[in-house]
Amino acid sequence: MKSSNVIYHQASVTRQRRNKLNKHRSVVLWFTGLSGSGKSTLAHALEEKLFQKGCRTFVLDGDNVRHGLNSNLDFSDADRGENIRRISEVSKLMLEAGLIVMTAFISPFTEDRNTARNLIKNDNFIEIYCKASIETCEKRDVKGLYKKARAGKIKNYTGIDSPYEAPVNPELIINTDKESLDESISKILSYLQENILKS
Ligand code: ADX
Repeated sequence: MKSSNVIYHQASVTRQRRNKLNKHRSVVLWFTGLSGSGKSTLAHALEEKLFQKGCRTFVLDGDNVRHGLNSNLDFSDADRGENIRRISEVSKLMLEAGLIVMTAFISPFTEDRNTARNLIKNDNFIEIYCKASIETCEKRDVKGLYKKARAGKIKNYTGIDSPYEAPVNPELIINTDKESLDESISKILSYLQENILKS
């Protein structure tokens, strides 16, 4: 750690007080899955629903964050780890700020996701596995990047020449190649209603 002699300042406006004002708990919904598995689509559609209910929300999206905060990172294993570490820290701050945070990052490595879970703490961390086969994601190829990866024009592409470690025990699994968007959103909303919004 480079910054020593730094003493933590306790805020008087706490997460608990913000949650009370917002009339809902803050939480991190961590979407993980292959590129093209529907993470961003789900996160944004869910945000729309929650926002309409009057919840305080924010989506952190891999493609966007890599244009700004994480623009100095590539897709090596180490930089993917750093990508997820920074996002975990930002999510933790947003959690303190009282938001329902939705993160949409491939986050391919179990170790990095576990580090995020440990930092954010288990109770606040809902891992949502967007499950779709590589064949489906490659067929969708919304951004044309699988094609480039197959042609060798992009290296270390997840699912092609870089691994994706599927979550072993996520809070939710969404089969995005079998369920409609509406079905998936209902499933997540009822989970939240049961476990987050009512508490
Ligand atoms: S992560 O692995 O570090 O979590 P992240 O979610 O931030 O990845 O970014 C993934 C997005 O970057 C993909 O949806 C895709 O559009 C783009 N991308 C560009 N190069 C790669 C690559 N080599 N592997 C995976 N995604 C890539």
